Amino acid sequence: MQNKGCLSYKTMLGYTSKLKKTMITKKDKNTMLNTTQKEFVDYAVDKYGTNELTVAQLKEANQNFGHKYAPQWLIKNKDYKIGKGLFQVPTETGETTSPTAGASENVLSSKKQEAPIINTEAAYVVSSLTGDIVPQKDKSFVSFGNYPDLKSIVKSNMFYPVFITGLSGNGKTFGVTQACAENKKEMIRVNVTIETDEDDLLGGYRLRDGQTVWQNGPVIEAMERGALLLLDEIDLASNKIMCLQPILEGSGVYVKKINKFVKPKNGFNVVATANTKGQGSDDGKFIGTNVLNEAFLERFPITFEQKYPTAKIEEKILVNTLASAGKTDKEFCNKLVTWADVIRKTYFDGGVDEIISTRRLVHIIQAYTIFNSKMKAIEVCTNRFDDDTKNSFVELYTKVDAGASAEQISEEQRTAEVNSQMSDNDSESDDSDVI
Ligand SMILES: Nc1ncnc2c1ncn2[C@@H]1O[C@H](COP(=O)(O)OP(=O)(O)OP(=O)(O)O)[C@@H](O)[C@H]1O
Ligand SMILES: [Mg+2]
Repeated sequence: MQNKGCLSYKTMLGYTSKLKKTMITKKDKNTMLNTTQKEFVDYAVDKYGTNELTVAQLKEANQNFGHKYAPQWLIKNKDYKIGKGLFQVPTETGETTSPTAGASENVLSSKKQEAPIINTEAAYVVSSLTGDIVPQKDKSFVSFGNYPDLKSIVKSNMFYPVFITGLSGNGKTFGVTQACAENKKEMIRVNVTIETDEDDLLGGYRLRDGQTVWQNGPVIEAMERGALLLLDEIDLASNKIMCLQPILEGSGVYVKKINKFVKPKNGFNVVATANTKGQGSDDGKFIGTNVLNEAFLERFPITFEQKYPTAKIEEKILVNTLASAGKTDKEFCNKLVTWADVIRKTYFDGGVDEIISTRRLVHIIQAYTIFNSKMKAIEVCTNRFDDDTKNSFVELYTKVDAGASAEQISEEQRTAEVNSQMSDNDSESDDSDVI
């Protein structure tokens, strides 16, 4: 529902290559060209009247096909190189085609005079980001907690990296998305995993239409656009994210693979979200989270601790969610929030291992709009917990539904706990009598 308009970089990277290219050897170099390459060769030979061309000519010819640089499939292949900055493009016959007398002089003199252009930048820098990458506003969104501060940071357009930590499903990612939506700020979200590396972040060479092209990664793309880079779930990363170190200082980065220094455009900023504070998860709740490098964490000037919304705010979120499906049931929303509140308190007291997040409450509301049954919605959305937990959650809801307040239920729980301790003590003293 949220994040509309915000492109997920993983999907944006995907493209299909039409090329079934094999290695071009000296013997068959003239016959193994794909259609795009053949078209280029025909055009270039026709244009210059020869198949021995300088880098400058190759580059110029390639502009006819909408490319900025000389074709890399050609200039990177040693088989085609016949001199410094000079290449023999593979024609059908494989023979050298001579230019006309006048043209020959021109080519030769230009060969003598012109120093070959050594292309130190990547062949083609392609961007897979097209169109609008400003996230859309979501009507169900309700501002709470650190959101106003986050919004101010986004609005300031300053480079000021923010680390947001908090339990799962309490609106960290949603908040960043909406802060960008409200400020009409471009945002690129990267879902970090243990596998995320420099290639995923900064970019890499990809095969596209038979050409090896450089494709900017999301980080470079965000820097060049002055967009907000959302590093989601940063604590799942390995130490491979250390390549972001200079970027987190706002000073730009040298991308060694394309021999280019990329400076961030005004407005570029980084927000990272995580379930932990980058110190790992002691209770094992967040499997896969890693201890992040201290120096890396040091580069975030501020950290926001995101809590679950207050009951009032959460109720509003649920009411809005229900309204977006054209329904109203304030009472149900209120009861769900009370139910989640009791479970959270018990969770923080160590009485239960699972928690009901804002996300899960929204899921219940959505299930309710589909199935039209409150109990069914709660059951299907709590099925993911083990049987004991699920049954106790469902039973607890029936109490809330019958009108019990959070205080009454908490009192009931305390009494039950005291009773069970007393019976434990009784049985212990019985045991000592036996001894
Ligand atoms: N302020 C809010 N207003 C409206 N809905 C919200 C708000 N915060 C959270 N939600 C609801 O909770 C869902 C989960 O939020 P979000 O994905 O931002 O959680 P998160 O904190 O990033 O979780 P995780 O740590 O698992 O990534 C949202 O999809 C939305 O439905
Ligand atoms: Mg998230």
